[in-house]
Amino acid sequence: MLTKDKEKLEALKQTIDDVKQKRYSDSYLIAVLHKAQALYGYLSEDVIDVIAVDMDIPTAHIWGVATFYHYFNLTPQGRHQIDVCLGTACYVKGAAQLVETLKQQLKIDMGQTTQDDLFTLKPARCLGACGLAPVVMIDDTIHGELTPKKMSDIINKHKRNAHKK
Ligand code: FES
Repeated sequence: MLTKDKEKLEALKQTIDDVKQKRYSDSYLIAVLHKAQALYGYLSEDVIDVIAVDMDIPTAHIWGVATFYHYFNLTPQGRHQIDVCLGTACYVKGAAQLVETLKQQLKIDMGQTTQDDLFTLKPARCLGACGLAPVVMIDDTIHGELTPKKMSDIINKHKRNAHKK
């Protein structure tokens, strides 16, 4: 249960208290969901339940908002987030081959997290670096002009670094 962490729960409740002073609307709920995701990494059932009770909003409505915005994670995320650009420029330069390489190497599908919790694989729209197509963003770093081989080497490097820690 994510909400067992007292410090994080208090921080979440503080955010809820802050928005409660204001008039309720979905934008305040979204602010609380952002805070919850920043604290826990994703929105679990117990976290949503706390928000529903404290904000006096039906759980179904909160799930509706959380699933509507692709930004929110509803499952645990890996330590590294891999966003594969599937925008037009990247697609014509071989993004599909990169996706295949990543799926095979990590043994997961788009939207999934590896068994060791190291990587989460996600599709992305144009990342604003079309000149470097095809592009993949890992955490906050853009990797451009990728080939399946370069992609695979980058993943292996991340794996090696993770095992050093
Ligand atoms: S289409 Fe991939 S960065 Fe623009």
